[in-house]
Amino acid sequence: MSAHAPLRKIIITIDGWSSCGKSTLAKQLAGALGYIYIDSGAMYRAITLYFLRNHVDWTKLRAVEEALRNIAIEFIFNPNSGQSETFLNGENVEYVIRDMVVAEKVSEVAAIKAVRDFAVSQQQAMGKGKGIVMDGRDIGTVVFPRAELKIFMTADNAVRVERRFKELYAKNPNLTIEEIKANLEMRDYIDSHREASPLRQAEDAFVLDNSNLTMKEQLDIALRWARERIKGIVT
Ligand code: DC
Repeated sequence: MSAHAPLRKIIITIDGWSSCGKSTLAKQLAGALGYIYIDSGAMYRAITLYFLRNHVDWTKLRAVEEALRNIAIEFIFNPNSGQSETFLNGENVEYVIRDMVVAEKVSEVAAIKAVRDFAVSQQQAMGKGKGIVMDGRDIGTVVFPRAELKIFMTADNAVRVERRFKELYAKNPNLTIEEIKANLEMRDYIDSHREASPLRQAEDAFVLDNSNLTMKEQLDIALRWARERIKGIVT
């Protein structure tokens, strides 16, 4: 092994319940390692937005298949925000896909096998060059079952509801804590009980409960795991 051999890049997956801070950690990790961050949930949200806008009856497989043929999703880096943003057929939908209207239906749409096949094949293609952090529900179990580092995130329910409330209240002050709580519980239930790749912890995942951790503390833990894995496979 040469002393100057470059570090090989790895794939890091982050799965877990809704609103436990997966995307925050994924962005932190990607930033610290110089990796690309991919928000797989944004793909399901963009598909849901397309279905809602185009009145697609997603209970009918043919309607779903037809609609998917007309959907192109891209992630484009915005140098002003320093983040990748989600584009649906050329339109920047990063903001609108976070809306409650989409959140109410996204778990239903994400449970459809044809939708998952469509999203998963694109996610796998994005991981070809490694050097990515991808968050979602099935990333360590289905999308990249051989990822070098898998993290499963969790946090107390009350903490998650509070975080989500703060995030959404700024956009819509009419929302109540009860509505947020009901939406989170519904999404967790559907995500973990669906037939097609339900949310579950991969056997080889590290569990990170961030109920009582600061952002810096959670990053330090995850970075330690990542560096150990990267070192383990230095060329
Ligand atoms: O992470 P998020 O809240 O933006 O995800 C939105 C929805 O998409 C969530 O309810 C579950 C679904 N999802 C999924 O089924 N599989 C993924 N890999 C990511 C998200």
